[in-house]
Amino acid sequence: LPSLPKEKGWVSSHFYQYKGFWHPARQLQGVIACQKHFEAQNSDILLVTTPKSGTTWLKAIVFALVKRMHYHRGMENYPLFMNNPHDLVPFLDLKIYVENQTPDLSSFPCPRLFATHLPFNSLPKSVHNAPCKIVYLCRNPKDTFVSLWHFTNKLRLIGNMETNSLEDVLDRFCKGVSIYGPFWDHVLGYWKESLENPNKVLFLKYEDLKENPTFYLKKIGEFLDFPFSSEEEKSGGILEEILTICSFDNLKNLEVNKSGKLSSGEENKAFFRRGEVGDWKNFLTAEMVDRINSLTEEKFGASGLEL
Ligand code: A3P
Repeated sequence: LPSLPKEKGWVSSHFYQYKGFWHPARQLQGVIACQKHFEAQNSDILLVTTPKSGTTWLKAIVFALVKRMHYHRGMENYPLFMNNPHDLVPFLDLKIYVENQTPDLSSFPCPRLFATHLPFNSLPKSVHNAPCKIVYLCRNPKDTFVSLWHFTNKLRLIGNMETNSLEDVLDRFCKGVSIYGPFWDHVLGYWKESLENPNKVLFLKYEDLKENPTFYLKKIGEFLDFPFSSEEEKSGGILEEILTICSFDNLKNLEVNKSGKLSSGEENKAFFRRGEVGDWKNFLTAEMVDRINSLTEEKFGASGLEL
């Protein structure tokens, strides 16, 4: 690897292409180490997303779902009230393997919950070989882009760097040169796999999750072999509780997310902005919208995928 610039991965202007996708230099190290060394266990659950498509939300939901036998919201130290979801479900590539190239993961309770932004063709071999499960979440490219632009600029401001213009970032996003881009290829990789191997990959869209959270919560539970019993499904029960705990308003207003920081330095509050569908309308010009829409049509073509 080339010598690494000091700037943090997210705000880096030093990108490298690896297996067809773009990575900020600092993160490439974690990507390669994860690919080489991560040994998936059969019961592992991997949450995979394109950046800014609701990763934090998905982490909270799956954590609450899978751990519901161990914790309940009445507990004084319910984990989601005390920790940002990124601390409960760590990134393999952005955190664990950046901090240590051969980490000891034996202390993670089973089923182990990990997250990654790795494209499908860059996943460690063991993830393909083991019957572990992947929940994939993506989001409309226009909202993903607007969220990414805000997030990156927020981090640049904190780092006393100049912010990037919407035009420049859009140009790079459309050319594929953005974190884990090209966005469209990332999504297509998991879309195709979810069609070929539906027991391995559950493909979700942020917009669907917003529109019908109860349906998708149940779907995730069934997919992960943690289905809700009919008793649990009764109204006012655990499903409602999980969705309330994981809602944007609740997570955003928790003290830990208002004032805490991740060990990697990002402020927890940076992960909660508006949490809405269609915020792109407030930022993109008609020309920008055309550019993203045409690209989406061209890339997704006959795949049957619409975002
Ligand atoms: P916006 O910038 O559009 O508000 P990620 O978690 O992948 O970094 O994505 C961040 C985006 O998800 C941000 O979108 C953020 O506000 C939104 N988000 C965070 N928590 C959420 C929640 N509980 N429900 C819905 N959206 C959420």
